Amino acid sequence: MARVYDAQTLQGIVDSIAERMVGEVERGVVANYIPELATVNLNQFGIAIVLANGEVICAGDAEVPFSIQSISKVLTLTLALERCGATLWQRVGREPSGDPFNSIIQLEYEKGVPRNPFINAGAIVTADVVLEGQKPDQAVDQILDLCRRAAGDDDIFVDQNVAKSEAQTGHRNRALAQFISAENNLRCTVEDTLSVYFRQCSIAMSCRQLAHLGRYLALGGQLAETDDAIITQERTRRILALMMTCGAYDASGDFAFRIGIPAKTGVGGGILGIVPGVASVAAWCPGLDNKGNSLLATRALDDLVRQAGWSLFTGDVHFSLEE
Ligand code: DON
Repeated sequence: MARVYDAQTLQGIVDSIAERMVGEVERGVVANYIPELATVNLNQFGIAIVLANGEVICAGDAEVPFSIQSISKVLTLTLALERCGATLWQRVGREPSGDPFNSIIQLEYEKGVPRNPFINAGAIVTADVVLEGQKPDQAVDQILDLCRRAAGDDDIFVDQNVAKSEAQTGHRNRALAQFISAENNLRCTVEDTLSVYFRQCSIAMSCRQLAHLGRYLALGGQLAETDDAIITQERTRRILALMMTCGAYDASGDFAFRIGIPAKTGVGGGILGIVPGVASVAAWCPGLDNKGNSLLATRALDDLVRQAGWSLFTGDVHFSLEE
């Protein structure tokens, strides 16, 4: 199947997806373990695509800011890799966990070295890597700067109400961080590391901003408008591999099966999907399925990728089959 790159055709596809999502009755449930997220209106859906050439295609509530939650783990992984390169893998693994994102059980078996940087335990370690040698406020500013620089947009912000709500109810994350610390895999204090982690998860932006932000991952780490790079091509390849294998937690296999592009989900209902060399896509709908991934944003990506022929497993054939 030929891949679709044309903005007008893509606009038609996302318009029809957004229209269909408005009418969906079954919408999943909001993440009520973070009280501030439980107040978000379920009847919202947005989608945005930023193509490699910079063209933007949006539909639905693409301008409404939402809490990016675990999608922020891609940002701290980017910063942590730039900071300590391959030595990061001594402190966090790169295998899918097959367990829920906030699972504690595996951490004990594996002596405080989390399975991958996208489960909560692994993201707490990468937040600690970013934090080391600076104050929590400076680390949060560094993460926000990365968002703003990559998205080319200074309006991206930390939602302080969500951050407060997470800090008040983050008992499981505290348990994870304490255990990692007991195994000597944190360099900073538990409270400082969590103060960065809770605030990175509370960064808010719209689908349009998120799709702009993700474009460096579609462009091999490069910022298109300048010669600047956010991260090397080699490291971008690693991040995308982890998004494909671990980005949707214990639903990552199903994601690859259904959708087939690297993606990162968040309990705010957002998903960032990357089609390498082609596009960055953000979809958002606050209701989650039983694995903590947005029910309708997943369905929307499934529809889009299928109609656009964008799955990495749908290759164009480059040689003749005759002879
Ligand atoms: O720490 C937490 O549980 C949340 N701040 C982030 C979890 C999350 O987004 C998992 N994603 N599906």
